[in-house]
Parts: sequence; structure tokens; C-alpha cells
Amino acid sequence: MCGIVGYIGTQPAYSILIDGLKKLEYRGYDSAGVALLCAKGLKVEKAKGEIAMLEARVGNNFPEGNMGIGHTRWATHGAPSDINAHPHCGCSQEFAVVHNGIIENYLSLREWLEEQGHRFISETDTEVLAHLVEHYYDGDLLRAVSQAVKMVEGSFAMVAVCEQEGDKLICARKDSPLVIGLGEGENYIASDVPAFLKWTRHTHILEDGEMAVVTASAVSIFAPNGQLLQKEINEVTWDAAEAEKGGYPHFMLKEIMEQPRALRDTMRGRLIDEGRDINLTELALTPQQCQAIERIFIVACGTAYHAGLVGKYAMEKILRLPVEVDLASEFRYRDPLLDPNTLVLVISQSGETADTLAALRLARKRGNQILAITNVVGSSVARDADKVLYTWAGPEIAVASTKAYLTQLLSLYMLTLYLGKQRGILDGQTIAEMGTALCRLPTQLESILGREAELQQIADYLAPWESAFFIGRNVDYAVAMEGALKLKEISYIHAEAYASGELKHGTLALIVDGIPVIAMATQSAVLDKSLSNIKEIKARCGHVICFAREGAISFAQEVDRVFHIPAAPDILMPILSVVPLQLLAYYTAVARACPVDKPRNLAKSVTVE
Ligand code: M6R
Repeated sequence: MCGIVGYIGTQPAYSILIDGLKKLEYRGYDSAGVALLCAKGLKVEKAKGEIAMLEARVGNNFPEGNMGIGHTRWATHGAPSDINAHPHCGCSQEFAVVHNGIIENYLSLREWLEEQGHRFISETDTEVLAHLVEHYYDGDLLRAVSQAVKMVEGSFAMVAVCEQEGDKLICARKDSPLVIGLGEGENYIASDVPAFLKWTRHTHILEDGEMAVVTASAVSIFAPNGQLLQKEINEVTWDAAEAEKGGYPHFMLKEIMEQPRALRDTMRGRLIDEGRDINLTELALTPQQCQAIERIFIVACGTAYHAGLVGKYAMEKILRLPVEVDLASEFRYRDPLLDPNTLVLVISQSGETADTLAALRLARKRGNQILAITNVVGSSVARDADKVLYTWAGPEIAVASTKAYLTQLLSLYMLTLYLGKQRGILDGQTIAEMGTALCRLPTQLESILGREAELQQIADYLAPWESAFFIGRNVDYAVAMEGALKLKEISYIHAEAYASGELKHGTLALIVDGIPVIAMATQSAVLDKSLSNIKEIKARCGHVICFAREGAISFAQEVDRVFHIPAAPDILMPILSVVPLQLLAYYTAVARACPVDKPRNLAKSVTVE
């Protein structure tokens, strides 16, 4: 995710900003920039690539100044480039802004600002903020920023600076974190504490809708209604390494906990009117193009492949279109049957997985239309596909994929609704029912994330075993596969997933006294069948840990442990049911003292065949 740093005080600001940006590097970024107020006015420098590229460009020649803002950008709107990097300026270069988040209505704002005579140079959503501030500026930067953010729909954490008021930084937030560091005769602003932890441990945390005026000697924070607030001072007790992980012991846990936010970001602007309608404007597919699709071929690796399996269940059920899912490493060597009306759907968090990319290129050679779901703007997959649906999970650092998987599922559901609408097979009411259910998921997920203790207990049972089984029927089977992969990957316990009905065709021979079997039971239509399979395991003394949909009471009496999952429409249950499996894998790996974030032999991005 992007990083923000701001400084105002008596020290040379440039080195403090660069140092702060380096402390935020762990979040992932593709370009960096700074804006410094110096004797000759605002000086802005930015560069694509690492912070070192920015430093090389600046050399030793950056003018001195004691206040400024800096940013590491992780591209969302517009590919990584010098021009798209932050800070962004208005037309006059007297205003500069850094921003994290997504401005949903940036296109209409941009159009309106252009009508007012503003000229844009980047492809970003952020640039509208700089022009809005400039547009409303009448000698009071706080008022201009306040008017600008009122115009904006979406999420933001932002800091603005202007030449005319060189004694202050103005910041504001909505749905994206921002924290103010309190020094002696100097103050800091950052999207994340590590940026200034070297200088101060005292902070004010900005809440949604609040704005602040930060000078070298004072910090004034205002409520959304403009009232001056008396905020408490918080003391950061984490060390630097913990602070990078937001106080969590591992990135994986931090990323699991970020999932409600990742879902909200991914649905923002797409599920409209609280889910009553769907619009994936970025795909710009006409109803005719959507109607022409006769088959969908999903290609991916690892966790992304498991997301594709869930997508198959959803698309076949809702769109009544045949969907095939293939591992990219198999697809590329098996001469797949692709007719011209097959849509090839490529899923990749990183957008750089060698096998996935090769599969995409094979489909391109065959002349198929390619739609990619990826988390990285400007990645090879994004560049080579015809259409891209981005997941807005933010950078994923732990090798084990969690929030990327969840946002891939959400994207597949949204794509299904969109295709259903464009093909004219889903009426408004069905779309609204599914859409509103999707919008409820982040809140339901929060309630699951608050139940870690239950999962820690289950992990204690699992940890001493060297083998475990996962079973499920229907879409639960796809989730079981992902649960087993998570457990293998980070705890090194050998785990296999089976379709529940397949056990008796061989695997039942492996069920011995006490062996852990994780049974998914979230699909109302097959609950009875799932229960029968559980009984087969119990009869052989297996230890059944059941993840059951709320209301499936009978399961509690039949199994050894049960974790109830809030109810959603059956087909959407994977978004909720996979999360306890992620936490279970996590706590099991911790109990086995495994290096959770960097499991042995694995890499985050697999760029070799
Ligand atoms: O970047 P991609 O989504 O293309 O990566 C695919 C797999 O390598 C990845 O999902 C892998 O399976 C994860 N480490 C699983 O947690």
C-alpha cells in the first residue's frame, strides 16, 4: 500500500522524509517522490522505481527546507511512472498533495475541473485532489482542503502543502490510516508509525472525517463538523520491527486482519448503492460482447487456482455457462481446446507468475479474449491482458496468500453479477440480493476475526500431528483445498483435501484414532450428505473439527469441535469460511515455531517455470 510521510520543524526535511519513506518500504511500492518548501518555493522530485532512484536523481543538489511531504506509491490508477508518482501539484505548482486511497468519482471531478480550466498531466485519481485544493484556495489552506475532501467520494489519507502558507501541513483522512507524530518544536505525519518512530513515540491518531493543521509547534485536530478537538496522546510501545507489522507478530496475521478493509476497497465504486447494482466500468464490455461468451476458461496457480475453483461454482450456477479451471503449468502444455468464443480468465496476485503469464500468452496466440484479475497495476499479466479487474487488497508481503485470495473471490463474484447483468439473465432483484449480501460480508468477517481464541485452541490440537485431512462438498471442497494448502505451506503439516464423497473410495484407509479431519459444512443444500461423511470418519475414530454454517445445530453433537460461521447465501460462503482456516493454519504454524511469513523453499512471486 502507498506510504505517506510529512515533516515540519527545524531539521533539514529532505533527509527526514527519505528516511521515513525507507521505513515504509516494507509495504511495497513502485515509485517515490518528495515535495519540499524551500527559499524559492515548492520543489518537487519524483521517480519511478525504488527510493534509491529518487535519491540518485536528486543527488546532493536538493535545496534546503524544513518542511515537506513524501510518498511511496503503489499504483492503482495509472501505471508506475515518474509522472504518476506523488506528490501531485495543481496547475500553478504552488500546491502539492500526497494521497493514499482511491477517489471513486475522480473522472467526473477531473472533467469538471478541466471545464474550469485546470490542466492534468497524470493518469492518477490523486491529481484531482491537488487541483481541487488549488481551485478552492482563497488564502486559507485548511478551508480549501476541507472543501476539496467534501467533493471526493472514496477513501483518502492526504497531506497538502502550499507555498503561501509555508508554516503548516494540512491533513485529512477517511477510510485510510493517518497518524501524527509529536516532537519538540517539530511534528510528523505518516500513514504508518515506523516512518517517524526513530524521532518520537507520541502520536495523535486521526479518525475518519477528521482534519488537522500541523505546524512546527502545534497540532490542531478538527472534527467533521469543524469543532476543535482535544485528542489524547498515545504512546507507541512497539519496537520498530513490530511497528512495521502494525503491532502484529507477523505480516500474515496483519494481512488476515486487514481483509474486511481489503474487501471494502475492492467493492468500492463497483457494488453501487449498497450493493443494489453492479458496475465494472473498467471492463467496458458491451452486452453483445458478454452475450457472445460461450465458455469461460480460468487459468491460475496455487491459491489463485483455488479462487478460480470457487469462481467455477459461482459462474456455472449463476450464469449457466460452462467453466473450466486449469493449473497454468498444465494448461500451457496440454494443447487446450479454446474456441473463439471462450473467455480466458487469468488470476494472479502478483501478475508475474511465470506459468500464468505463459498460459496467458498461449491464449493470446490462439486469439482469445483475455481478462485478468490481479492485484498489481502495471504487472506483466495486467499489461498483456485485454481487460483487467484489479483487486484492491494492497501489497501482500507474507508468502502465504490471504487477503489477495479473498479479494480474488470477491472479484469473481462481482464479475459473475456483471456478466449476468450484461447478458440479461439476472434481473434487478437478483442482483440486489447478491450485491447486498456481498456488501454485508466485511462486517460478518469482522465477527469471525474477533474469535481468534477458539481457533488457537483448535490449533493446539492440530500442532503435534504430521498429517491432516480437509473435506468438503460442492464449493466447500474448493475451500477445503485452500485450507489444506495454507496449513501445508506454513506449518509443514502434510494436509490433503478431498471431496467428502470421495473418502470411501480410498482415503478412509488413512483415518486412524485421533487424526485431525477438518470438515467444511456450509452448504445448506448438502448438509445432510456432509453429516453422513462426518459420521464415516467418526466411526473410524477420526477427530472431526467442523466449520459449520450458523444454524447447522446437529453438527455440534456429531463432531469433536465445531466453529460456527455466520450465514450468507451458500455460494458466497467461501469468503467467510476460508478465514478461520487461514487463522487455524497461522496459529498451528506459530505453535510449531515455523517461520510464518517466509516458509522454507517458497517465494512470494514465482517467476520461474
Ligand atoms: O502471484 P500469483 O497469485 O500468481 O501466485 C500464485 C501462487 O504462487 C500463490 O498463490 C501461492 O500458491 C501462495 N503462496 C499460496 O499461499
